[in-house]
Amino acid sequence: MSKQRYTITAALPYTNGPVHIGHLAGVYIPADIFTRYQKAKGNDAVYICGSDEHGVPITIRAKKEGVTPQQVVDKYHAVIKKSFADFGIAFDNYSRTSLPLHHETAAGFFKKLYDEGKFVEQTSKQLYDEQEKQFLADRFVTGTCPKCGYEHAYGDQCEKCGTSLSPMELINPVSTISGNKPVVKETKHWYLPLDQYQDWLKDWILEGHKHDWKPNVLGQVKSWLDDGLRPRAVTRDLDWGVPVPVEGAEGKVLYVWFDAPIGYISSTKEWAEKNEKDWQAYWQDKDTKLIHFIGKDNIVFHTIIFPAMLKAHGDYILPENVPANEFLNLEGDKISTSRNWAVWLHEYLEEFPGKQDVLRYVLTANAPETKDNDFTWKDFQTRNNSELVGNLGNFINRVLVLTHKYYDGVVPHPGELTAVDKDVLSQLKTYPDKIGKLIERYRFREALAEYMNLARLGNKYLADEEPWKLIKTNPERVKTIMYVALQIATALAVLGEVFLPFSAQKLKEMLQLTQKYNWDEVAQKDTLLPAGHQIGKAQLLFEKIDDETVEKQVQKLLATKKQNEADNRPVEPQKDEIEFDDFMKMDIRTATILEAEKMPKAKKLLVLKVDTGLDQRTIVSGIAEHFKPEDIVGKKVLVLVNLKPRKLRGVESQGMILMTENAEGKLVFVNPDEATPNGMPIS
Ligand code: 2FM
Ligand code: ZN
Repeated sequence: MSKQRYTITAALPYTNGPVHIGHLAGVYIPADIFTRYQKAKGNDAVYICGSDEHGVPITIRAKKEGVTPQQVVDKYHAVIKKSFADFGIAFDNYSRTSLPLHHETAAGFFKKLYDEGKFVEQTSKQLYDEQEKQFLADRFVTGTCPKCGYEHAYGDQCEKCGTSLSPMELINPVSTISGNKPVVKETKHWYLPLDQYQDWLKDWILEGHKHDWKPNVLGQVKSWLDDGLRPRAVTRDLDWGVPVPVEGAEGKVLYVWFDAPIGYISSTKEWAEKNEKDWQAYWQDKDTKLIHFIGKDNIVFHTIIFPAMLKAHGDYILPENVPANEFLNLEGDKISTSRNWAVWLHEYLEEFPGKQDVLRYVLTANAPETKDNDFTWKDFQTRNNSELVGNLGNFINRVLVLTHKYYDGVVPHPGELTAVDKDVLSQLKTYPDKIGKLIERYRFREALAEYMNLARLGNKYLADEEPWKLIKTNPERVKTIMYVALQIATALAVLGEVFLPFSAQKLKEMLQLTQKYNWDEVAQKDTLLPAGHQIGKAQLLFEKIDDETVEKQVQKLLATKKQNEADNRPVEPQKDEIEFDDFMKMDIRTATILEAEKMPKAKKLLVLKVDTGLDQRTIVSGIAEHFKPEDIVGKKVLVLVNLKPRKLRGVESQGMILMTENAEGKLVFVNPDEATPNGMPIS
């Protein structure tokens, strides 16, 4: 059979932050498994990605940090690229859209469509920030969503209800750069008339792919088409991006969602140049299968807008499939870069060295393939301890240790196979096809579960045959059992490469497996590891993860949650204006608490004796629920000393201690420096 060519793309991550587990589970791990599998099958697959370095969020971040957009993307491109590589995401090419090659490719694409009259040129009214001299596209403007009333909707989308918006639709728009109320100004842009592609898209997707695309993807496509497609602007008035390559377009760049998917093409070109390949075969040969792996927020761009661009261009193939995943949540809450609610890949790699496959395993076993899913550290621990250590690791360890113990690490010659042996070996041969078919249908969770069933088959076989008992009574039989078990271990090493590449490699080294089997050979060969072959040293494939390790991660998230709550606590509005003299009437002094005791029969009150520098006086304070009397004796505080005395439960209170609340809403003293003498006035 001739090799099938595949161009496999994974969504280009924005370079305005690092990569987190949601990205991995949604896009990069499934695409990695798919590519590794196609390569193991002997197909000609190329795995393409790169950094998406344009777009408004990057400009906003640069403004906030007081650096250039290029500095922002340089920083995150390096972090992202390294963390992917360290995690074993085996891209054939990881490019970036700020490269000249990409700018030329994207500009060339636009120019061809422009020259052929595929765009509609339109002057329209847009929001403009007069102070910043900037049109407010996309995320440069926020306001109230006209659909759901959410007050922080962006100019391109409401994150609350998911509606796609344009800035002019926002109610009470505000510039995110200056906080100013924008004015309306005219500007010219080029639009891709998506309405002209509506019927073609409907036929191609809803008819042509109704059986092979995922229901979540078809559902979104249908809803867009039912709403009716409208022309979409593909240029913006910005200074960061690919300049629009036509006259009269000064100060305009391509819309980030126009240039980013073309990034797949330029990344392929870069790869082809480095590897003496023909990039066109991967994008223009109708026998090539183009597969886009993305998250659900990217569906419209990869099923409607980019295909319409490719169709308008005319030289390109269209995607064969767009297997989008749903979202992964973290400990019950939506993952968010801005709220730092995430498990960041680069941090995981630092904190769990050598444990890439544990995360790959957990994120695949729990991938949000058909619905949103939740990642919890508890589940991470359980899956590692009971599935990786308890099932796969346990089987491999038994096989290797026993082979060393009984035969000094040499694969024994089998005797006559029993019916059980034959059954186990013929079951083994069903796995490549079973797992492969699931991967081809983008059902990675089930594929991984089948892979683990092969380890389970091995464990059951050993548990039933009990070689450790038979070794005393029937050592000849044990040779056959261990031979069969070693074939299963070898199959696990070969098939495991697609899911758990680090562990599969380690296992191959333990088995000293030098033969390179492709996927189907696992089913075709009767012997994968021949008798007489010397295996290497046994090592543990996986280690248990203890409670303390996961607790540390849970605590880290709790600290983030607290910080977020503190950052987001509503600040009380300012009180009515006062005159300077009003303030000067207040006499606030530094003081020390000398004594403190509970007011009898009053839950909230403490009776304090305070040295104000003027005198020693009694103050009754409503802080008994927040402080133990013995803990506050000796504290330096601020006291409003000229507050008119008043009686509380029969005790005269002669002043008021100044308090505030900390991040957790707990009362705290407003502390002057410990060395300040008592009686110093505050002004
Ligand atoms: O959502 C995102 O992170 C985008 N940067 C994905 C772009 S995919 C492609 F078209 F480049
Ligand atoms: Zn909304």
